[in-house]
Amino acid sequence: TTLAMSVEDYDRGGHETFLHKEIHEQPAALDRALRGRLDERFSTARLGGVGLDAREVRSIRRVKFLGSGSSYYAGQIGATLVEELARIPADAEPSSEFRYRNPVIDPDTLYIAVSQSGETADTLAAVAELKRKGGRLLGVVNVVGSAIARECGSGLFLHAGPEVSVAATKSFTNMAASFALLALHLGRVRDLSLADGRRLVDGLRRLPDQLGEILAAEEAIRAVAHKYADARHMFFVGRVRGYPVAREGAQKLKEISYIHAEAYQSAELKHGPLALINPEMPSVVVIPADETFGKNLATIEEIKARGGPVIAVTNTELPAGLADDVLFVPRNEVQLDPVLLGIPLQLFAHHIAEKLGRDIDRPRNLAKSLTVE
Ligand code: G6P
Repeated sequence: TTLAMSVEDYDRGGHETFLHKEIHEQPAALDRALRGRLDERFSTARLGGVGLDAREVRSIRRVKFLGSGSSYYAGQIGATLVEELARIPADAEPSSEFRYRNPVIDPDTLYIAVSQSGETADTLAAVAELKRKGGRLLGVVNVVGSAIARECGSGLFLHAGPEVSVAATKSFTNMAASFALLALHLGRVRDLSLADGRRLVDGLRRLPDQLGEILAAEEAIRAVAHKYADARHMFFVGRVRGYPVAREGAQKLKEISYIHAEAYQSAELKHGPLALINPEMPSVVVIPADETFGKNLATIEEIKARGGPVIAVTNTELPAGLADDVLFVPRNEVQLDPVLLGIPLQLFAHHIAEKLGRDIDRPRNLAKSLTVE
């Protein structure tokens, strides 16, 4: 059922804000999302609610993720995972754009509606349009019994638990991990090898503890956040797996601190935004140790050459003195990096907003779920 509860009905559990509490709930929340879903024997994910048989999985020609806000950014992580692990072309689109452009519904496309609340009007409308036109549909939703969950009929629940703070945190992390499960599941029916499946199962199993390691370094992240709390604008850049992470990082910062933040694919910087780089414009660069590492190093150099401060989010050592500040996350399989890289950016935004005295759980002009247009 949809619970009509207000913020006051929940307990902050000793935390200053619900946002802080929910950030710290992530290891347990992720554990719930993985529980019972990792299949050691066949090195795959067991997803009872998906309900696609092997023949249907093999007939999927495209996957499209639909959602709003953070759920759309999470969908971009999902699209990359599906392309990499299942080798099916995939993309993500805001559900509002999809519903208003009279989309061509393709019978060989699997549409995935993504929503924490399960009530967002634009996503629900996209689902209704897909159902009316006979599109193949799965829902990835947190709130059981919500409208989108009911309309979709099949899919995955996120098991993140109630999320009270307007800014999404644990639901986003569980979306990214759930898409990894889904991509693994689709991949193992198609052409992902047993050995690759095993690597990912092992990697997924390590994630909750690794989230805990990141949260244990909160003091260091707070110190970096305080250093940048006076910035008026910030860039967040990343490429491929790092780009949706950059978008979500920028979203967290603007939502709760009201600092103007923009996310770009790293290579796009030089096609315009680089003109804005100066000592007053810090850039957060998402730089995992994957095949884009060298390119991302060059991006940091481009920014530094123009006097821009750089905060790197990485899972490896960077050349000494290259970045002004570094936020570290643990290493895992490269495909799972997006689940980890975003966590320090949640704390970064939180501690900036706290320093600025913002009403973190109830940011101005925003609502937890937009059930009307
Ligand atoms: C609102 C919230 C966002 C959220 C978006 C989608 O704008 O403020 O945090 O990402 O809706 O919500 P949903 O419940 O569909 O994930």
